[in-house]
Amino acid sequence: MRSKIVAGNWKMNKNLEETNTLLAELVQKMPDTSAEVMVAPTFVNLSAAVQSLAGSRIEVVAQNMHFEESGAFTGEIAPGMLKNIGVNTVILGHSERRAYFGETDGLLKKKVDTALAQGMRIIFCFGEELDDRKSGKHFDLVERQLRNALFHLPTEAWKHIVLAYEPVWAIGTGETASPEQAQEMHAFIRKTLESSYGSDIAQGVTILYGGSVKPGNASEIFSKPDVDGGLIGGAALKADDFIGIINGI
Ligand code: PGA
Repeated sequence: MRSKIVAGNWKMNKNLEETNTLLAELVQKMPDTSAEVMVAPTFVNLSAAVQSLAGSRIEVVAQNMHFEESGAFTGEIAPGMLKNIGVNTVILGHSERRAYFGETDGLLKKKVDTALAQGMRIIFCFGEELDDRKSGKHFDLVERQLRNALFHLPTEAWKHIVLAYEPVWAIGTGETASPEQAQEMHAFIRKTLESSYGSDIAQGVTILYGGSVKPGNASEIFSKPDVDGGLIGGAALKADDFIGIINGI
């Protein structure tokens, strides 16, 4: 059975005080769920988040990292630094990193390799732009993103990988993919995985959906057989909304 995950990507939101307040509320209201629950505060608050969540079942994850272990890379964060403060999972390839910070498939491949070498778990994001979907290229595009950054990996690496399909046109727009569109793409992703790695890997990898998931639409999206949870942006910033989404799994 693959694991179900609900992960909150806080992006560049919440100062230290706000971080602690939201985490305390989440801990207090956390429902009894079999899903793994994760939050990704900004880098400067990761350490504090790890401390405030000690003993809770919420995992703290990072939004990004550099592909080198150390060195002259001003402003960057090395994977070993994350591990050192108790952060063992990292989000890579978010569409905002790709669009605003020039992250390419080639760069992401290097980050994936470094994260795995450090024994980290990866939430790997990918997804098409609206133009790709309108012109019917969304399946090709998604397949290419996966092949370019991940399909060089050996079979055993896949137990450390979580996939997050996030159509760019649905992120922060209030426009979500329909449950059918999500299911269609997730099934396609499993088929693509199966063709290269076989059905055990294809059936074992957790595939999250991301893009305007809210308490009101979460349970319908999560009810689809190939959707194993969500990567949540805006709605992860309010405890009641995030809890409502967790309750949808
Ligand atoms: P959203 O963001 O839920 O605000 O659309 C999702 C994401 O960027 O992961």
